[in-house]
Amino acid sequence: MPILYDEKTKQFHLQAGSSSYLFEIDKDAYLAHRYYGGRLSQPTIAQPFVTMARSFSPNPDPSDDHFSLDTLPQEYPVYGTSDFRLPAIEAKFEDGSTLIELRYQRHRIFPGKPVLRGLPATYIEEASEATTLEVDLEDALKGLVVTLCYTAFTNHAVIARSVFVANHGTERIMLRRVHSAAMDLPDAEYDLIHLPGAHVRERELVRVPLERSVHQMESRRGASSHQENPFMALVRKNTTEVYGEAIGVSLVYSGNFQMTADVDQYDNTRVLAGINPFDFEWVLEPGEGFQAPEALLVYSKEGLGGLSREFHRLFRTRLVRGKYRDKIRPVLINNWEATYFQFDQQTLLELGKSAKELGIELFVLDDGWFGHRDDDRSSLGDWTVDLQKLPDGLPPLVRAINDQGLQFGIWVEPEMISPNSELYRAHPDWCLHVPSRNQSLSRHQLVLDFSREEVCDAILHQLTKLLQSAPIRYVKWDMNRHISELGSVGWPAYRQREVAHRYMLGLYRLLEQLTNMFPDILFESCSGGGGRFDPGMLYYMPQVWTSDNTDAISRLSIQFGTSLVYPAITMGSHVSAVPNHQVGRVTSIETRGLVAMMGNLGYELDARKLSEEERGKVQSQIHLYHEIKHIVLLGDLYRLRSPYHHRDAAWMYVSENKEEAFVTYVKILAVPNPPMERLPLQGLDAKKRYQVTLIGDEVNRFISIATSEMEINGDELMQWGLLIPYLHGDFLACAWSLKAK
Ligand code: DGJ
Repeated sequence: MPILYDEKTKQFHLQAGSSSYLFEIDKDAYLAHRYYGGRLSQPTIAQPFVTMARSFSPNPDPSDDHFSLDTLPQEYPVYGTSDFRLPAIEAKFEDGSTLIELRYQRHRIFPGKPVLRGLPATYIEEASEATTLEVDLEDALKGLVVTLCYTAFTNHAVIARSVFVANHGTERIMLRRVHSAAMDLPDAEYDLIHLPGAHVRERELVRVPLERSVHQMESRRGASSHQENPFMALVRKNTTEVYGEAIGVSLVYSGNFQMTADVDQYDNTRVLAGINPFDFEWVLEPGEGFQAPEALLVYSKEGLGGLSREFHRLFRTRLVRGKYRDKIRPVLINNWEATYFQFDQQTLLELGKSAKELGIELFVLDDGWFGHRDDDRSSLGDWTVDLQKLPDGLPPLVRAINDQGLQFGIWVEPEMISPNSELYRAHPDWCLHVPSRNQSLSRHQLVLDFSREEVCDAILHQLTKLLQSAPIRYVKWDMNRHISELGSVGWPAYRQREVAHRYMLGLYRLLEQLTNMFPDILFESCSGGGGRFDPGMLYYMPQVWTSDNTDAISRLSIQFGTSLVYPAITMGSHVSAVPNHQVGRVTSIETRGLVAMMGNLGYELDARKLSEEERGKVQSQIHLYHEIKHIVLLGDLYRLRSPYHHRDAAWMYVSENKEEAFVTYVKILAVPNPPMERLPLQGLDAKKRYQVTLIGDEVNRFISIATSEMEINGDELMQWGLLIPYLHGDFLACAWSLKAK
């Protein structure tokens, strides 16, 4: 069993892949965190946790002035009973008090992993893949029982944590904060990495040293958001891409979240992750329970690269579900940047025809096909075809696209409602709002109240009709605003602060129903690009539109940041027209293609407007993609050079058996009279000899220092490197494909 319990020391030892996680029961009551790091060979930690009398740290046990919760490294700290640091749980009782005294009651260790009802979570397929420990803590006075759930994956360095809070008492309890995971690391010699951003600038990797203060990453926007991602990492000061310790924390949740690293007076680092306590409360009547989302702890000693690969393997195989989990997705074309709202059937068919000639497999009809939507001011909520634009309706269009040899996909934004819509006229109170208050519009729209079952059911009904009306093989599920004026007329006054989380529960329920009803449809999640690129959405939809920014150079940092946690197969990545619509930059079709091949390749341009030469190049890049897509989408990623220095970027994917690899290099800004450079590769088999083929029309323009075909040993490629050819100009790219001989 990878979870051990030692009766003598009362230590739990969770062994997850190459990692160990230990905590113990102190004074038969308190859970003390002892260790998180590389796998330990012994079942217990021999050296005890040493306590000493500390001024200004109160002692809950009057007979022991060495013991204080303020100095104890804890597993699930509470508020008000001698610990002054941030708590994992907070509640208010009927007498107005807010103290919680949690004491260990019992624990259970069993094979497998329980399902989190109503919430997305990682899963297992065989009981042997994981072992679970549940620990019950109780506040006896109030009958509050907190169950900490830890699942250690056998073959992944991953511990999944969640918390269930039950009211076994006789009075109403108002939960004010319930974090999913907490742990106190015994030092603060870490850098903090997180992924802040903005619309069209998502998930920039930011690394800052931990200081003695509270570092908080959060969303208060009703979605995980572009502005932060429910992820953070603590890495040692010397941790690089290839070397050093890294602890990653990811929350499987798509709404308001909070991640905290709080360094205390003795340089312990408290880590907290969960639903954002901001504007959150949950009323627990006697007999009721509350399930907090799942938090994932991932450990690596192999630097950021190792951390990413652990996350990638887990998300690819044990978070994403359904038919498309292990399947290569079709190359798609999306009409958004080609036409925006202005199209008719003829235009779409012309686009489809020229896309097919390029080798594209799936045609996606984006926004503007429903209601009377000629711009973004109307019709969200009315999911029936606009007969002015498509007079024959949807099924004949889908048939015609199918006849061209393309599958058909469609865009929807089901969580939204336009004030100018039939749905709003019929149900003006179906949006989230506070009566008598102003309702702020964003992109001229309001958010539907998915905390109410009847609203979700009505949307499910409309979507079901739509998806049954024609052979639709792909759905892009968009969400283009954040939630303001949060309130629901479906819930009583004292439950209003539950609405943000109830919205997420409603959304998850609807997605569960819809994806079960249409298992053959490939769903792509989107929120103005990557505004909800999180593990919660990935549980329902196996890929995400990474960003509305389709510029190849901007995409380097967006995709690098994203790749810290999320695997290539979850990223939607398109070649678009130049000058690029978001930043005005001009890049070559080769560079655009090679950058888009860092994920699921797609196109988002007017294929009719490509020159003959460009058409030829697109055909060959799709051909190349078919040859390498299994390496990219199912292989291991190694980031070789970071685009954050604005000079160049390089990355590679290696197939699991190390027989094949694909390396990409992008020169961002040209350097005059540059040095000759080598690119040491990673992840290959040192003993194998590889056939290395250089790909790229942009090399050899002036001089090239590399030949295009060579046989090179794995050790040479990793230790000496690969010669980077001379690329004359900005924004140029080349690639190499490697095949073991
Ligand atoms: C935002 C998405 O990210 C875009 O790709 C596009 O679908 C628009 N919405 C349509 O309104």
